[in-house]
Amino acid sequence: MSKKIGYAVVGLGVGKAHVKAAANAKDAELIAVCDIIQEKLDKIAGEYPGTLTYLEFDEMLKNPDIDIVSICLPSAMHADFAVKAMEAGKHVLVEKPIDITVEAAMKIEEARVRTGLKAGVIHQNRNNADMKPIREAIQSGKIGSVIYGDFEVKWYRTQEYYDNGGWRGTWEMDGGGSLMNQAVHTVDLMQWLMGDVESVTSQIGIYGHRIETEDFTASLIKFKSGAVATFVSTTCAYPGLNTGIKIYGTKGSIEADSDKIELWKFMDAPEGEEAEVLSKYAGNGSAAALDPTLCTGHASMVENMISAVKNDCDPQILPMEAIKSVRIVNAVYESARTGKTVYFD
Ligand SMILES: NC(=O)c1ccc[n+]([C@@H]2O[C@H](COP(=O)([O-])OP(=O)(O)OC[C@H]3O[C@@H](n4cnc5c(N)ncnc54)[C@H](O)[C@@H]3O)[C@@H](O)[C@H]2O)c1
Repeated sequence: MSKKIGYAVVGLGVGKAHVKAAANAKDAELIAVCDIIQEKLDKIAGEYPGTLTYLEFDEMLKNPDIDIVSICLPSAMHADFAVKAMEAGKHVLVEKPIDITVEAAMKIEEARVRTGLKAGVIHQNRNNADMKPIREAIQSGKIGSVIYGDFEVKWYRTQEYYDNGGWRGTWEMDGGGSLMNQAVHTVDLMQWLMGDVESVTSQIGIYGHRIETEDFTASLIKFKSGAVATFVSTTCAYPGLNTGIKIYGTKGSIEADSDKIELWKFMDAPEGEEAEVLSKYAGNGSAAALDPTLCTGHASMVENMISAVKNDCDPQILPMEAIKSVRIVNAVYESARTGKTVYFD
């Protein structure tokens, strides 16, 4: 029997979802967890007997049984910890956003190339069931030329959510607010579905929280293809509403709420196609809109990372792909700050 891939996780907030996925993965063994809070370590050790616990990341990296480390720390810590792990010979799976600046994120890519190790990034919403038919309808030309995309992430987060942990809603550690933290998932989907961005024009504001960054953004985005999108993000939409992904082309229209397709109209569609698609992709909608613990879908990405190491192939989302959404988010902030349209190369 071949050796199982040794898995470790640093940061035990959303990191608990990585722990669970690694513990359940058939080709991996959960070896260790690291956090600076002892009670969080004790809880995992109780739930997963035999798991080693570390208060010091450097100490954990000395363990030769660890092959992959999931980096689940506050966003601005991702690059430093991922690079450190790769320099210690470990593959890394990094939570979204890859880091809060393009420059920091590039350090992960440089370390990946330098060490020859694998670096993957979590953007699990790409694996929502409805993304497959939506992307296919665009890529195959079924929808015609894409004209317009309408993206809205109308979520709700309490003040307590921002106060808890102290890093959320700060420029230094979160890199932004509703857009960099919550809606970055949908920014990733937008660019994955609609292609390379040409320019971004935005307004942002703080309306419902005592935070330093933003809890509302509105942007007009132009793509190199000529298509245009509007993108709204907020954590003020009580009690947590939808994640709208709406795409309109010259031959048809698609409207979805997160993993749920709500409208599927195509000029040349066979009779009954829309009803079939709507019943097949009925999804759960925007569960995470009101409760951050309801973010799901980590298992598929953790398993993909384990398989990439086992079979020596690339993980699903490489750093250069994840950097695209960080570039767009920072362009939104720059446009709002300067009052000017930001143009991409
Ligand atoms: N993919 C998703 O759906 C999803 C969901 C939530 C969060 N996230 C991302 O995951 C990351 C973490 O977010 P969170 O909500 O879990 O935050 P969190 O504050 O709940 O958890 C972070 C953990 O890191 C620990 N930590 C801080 N400094 C440390 C250090 N030096 N060494 C070891 N542990 C340390 C903290 O004690 C805490 O337990 C963020 O980048 C966030 O954007 C992704």
